[in-house]
Amino acid sequence: MADTFPIRCVDHVRFLVGNARASAYYYHKVFGFDIVGYDGLETGLKHEVDWLLRQGNVRFLFTAPSRPGHPLNEQLNRSGDGVMDVAFEVDDVDWAFEAAVARGAKPAKQPWTMRDDRGEVRLAAIHTYGDTIHTFLNRDKFSGGFLPGFQDRDLRGHSTGLLEVDHVVGNVELGQMNVWVKFYEQVLGFTQLISFDDKDISTEYTALMSKVMSNGNGKVKFPINEPAEGKKKSQIDEYLEFYGGAGVQHIALLTDDIIRTVTELRNRGIEFLQVPKAYYDLLPDRVGKIDEAISELEDLGILVDRDDEGYLLQIFTKPVTDRPTLFYEIIERKGAKSFGKGNFKALFEAIEREQAIRGTL
Ligand code: FE2
Repeated sequence: MADTFPIRCVDHVRFLVGNARASAYYYHKVFGFDIVGYDGLETGLKHEVDWLLRQGNVRFLFTAPSRPGHPLNEQLNRSGDGVMDVAFEVDDVDWAFEAAVARGAKPAKQPWTMRDDRGEVRLAAIHTYGDTIHTFLNRDKFSGGFLPGFQDRDLRGHSTGLLEVDHVVGNVELGQMNVWVKFYEQVLGFTQLISFDDKDISTEYTALMSKVMSNGNGKVKFPINEPAEGKKKSQIDEYLEFYGGAGVQHIALLTDDIIRTVTELRNRGIEFLQVPKAYYDLLPDRVGKIDEAISELEDLGILVDRDDEGYLLQIFTKPVTDRPTLFYEIIERKGAKSFGKGNFKALFEAIEREQAIRGTL
């Protein structure tokens, strides 16, 4: 099938935060990112501060307003720290913006050019769910590493082996999942890979529904969740309440050595969700032969699932923000292209135990 909206890849994920310097230091020290760029007062950016971090092909950009009256202060006040932009690298920014808007996207920023002595980068942006945006950018005419104005920094992190953004998950309001599925289909030419209904994703108490969207070249994968009716408040409702609306729930980061990655992250203080011991007793029958020792996976709390093409290993952090909103998944794929359906129940029960402690179940 022809790709009706060519996107090269996720270029970077931009976070709106209260203190970009502290966030940069946290992701540098704990997740092992290199600090590679800075833009702020010293470089002529008079209203905000941007820190750019990199590990493997993952680029995280942390933005904080540096003055009262900044237009992003209101969003920050409502939602707290979170993902504001999942930016795409495209061949032709003007075409992408005009095509997206013609197909129904709400414009966020008209196309503009950033320039410095290293060349120029063309950018534009559209709105997606909640306050989240998608920036389109192209730096084919730029010799620097990121964007004009940024000063290079070279503070190497002690890598935890993170390689790529595997997928980015959005939480949307009840009844809105199909609206955003249609948006990604009609505006950005995505197709639906998988659909999970509340029978697939439910526990005794809570339920949710999810559809996984993928772009034309398969590099961009966006599951979209909405809450479903349950006896108690689902994790999606909890997110929507604390974030003040729809937004990015988790980012899955790919590793090719999950045991090393999770060992490092645990040693540096990252807290992960825990499943009961019974999960590991049932694992050999459920997933068959795997390369890893189950005892080692159990010690680290790593989950396993198998599909027709292979298996995957995954684990989920507790929220990394003060509010129960943003968290991370660490994932290693051994052939499997799916998302761990066999782990949903154990995982959501683990989340419910956390919600109960927070008093939000
Ligand atoms: Fe995920």
